Amino acid sequence: MPHILTSTRDRITLIELNRADKKNAITADMYQAMADALRAAESDPQVRVVLIHGKSDCFTAGNDLKDFLDRPPHGENSPVFQFLQGISTAAKPLVAAVGGPAVGIGTTMLLHCDFVYAAPNARFQLPFVPLGLVPEAGSSLLLPMLAGYQRAAELLMLGKPFTAEKAQAAGIVTEIVPEDELLGYALEAASALAALPPASLRMTKALMKAPRASAVAAAMAGEGEKFRAQLSSAEAKEAMTAFFEKRKPDFSKF
Ligand code: COA
Repeated sequence: MPHILTSTRDRITLIELNRADKKNAITADMYQAMADALRAAESDPQVRVVLIHGKSDCFTAGNDLKDFLDRPPHGENSPVFQFLQGISTAAKPLVAAVGGPAVGIGTTMLLHCDFVYAAPNARFQLPFVPLGLVPEAGSSLLLPMLAGYQRAAELLMLGKPFTAEKAQAAGIVTEIVPEDELLGYALEAASALAALPPASLRMTKALMKAPRASAVAAAMAGEGEKFRAQLSSAEAKEAMTAFFEKRKPDFSKF
């Protein structure tokens, strides 16, 4: 089975993360498939809305840490960058349904979505600093804007998991819905959006996003440079090796 499943029906494109054995950790190939799906949805006049989801017990464990070690992303044409470009500039509305772990990009991608539905079992986490990395996807700009500096500082510096309630209080989550209703609820919202006048909807999104578009692009470029540099740092190697060796990382020597 492909690790990314895409389908389009009733004017909604669904993008499903489908790598359960690795908690939907995202590889370069998966970013490429999602970037391609977003591009196809944007250019297909039949598509009005995109819905991103996993299973109700797992959204995604974030970037595949083995890929980070073995095949770190290079430059602005890398699959991850294409995906980030796609979600940050999408003209059509993006809806996300989140249950279980939503780690790293599993949380930062939500900052670009228009509607985010989360189940009570959702566990968000931004573990960039504990991994020896820096925030990405424009989150160093968007999260302080959304949540306020102090709340963002706690989430981005300590990098601990947080609940759906906390994510809602931070402004990341639109609504918390029961786990067994999660996808159906998100689909209903997507259907409601798909039934609206499409040009008006897209213009409304563009008007809301326009004032910060260039700042987001600049933040993503600045983060990307530092992120790529940190990926080859001794701090990041220690953090990621420790994850696979199932031990606590030791940063005392740095
Ligand atoms: N990259 C690569 N593999 C990953 C992964 C990731 N980001 N997250 C999980 N996996 C793999 C595990 O290595 C494990 O593989 P194995 O069965 O071959 O040992 C499998 O997925 C299941 O993960 P496990 O940790 O046993 O599941 P869990 O339910 O106990 O915990 C998480 C789930 C998401 C909390 C935990 O896996 C985790 O913290 N993952 C790393 C998240 C991360 O740091 N992401 C990068 C953000 S930038």
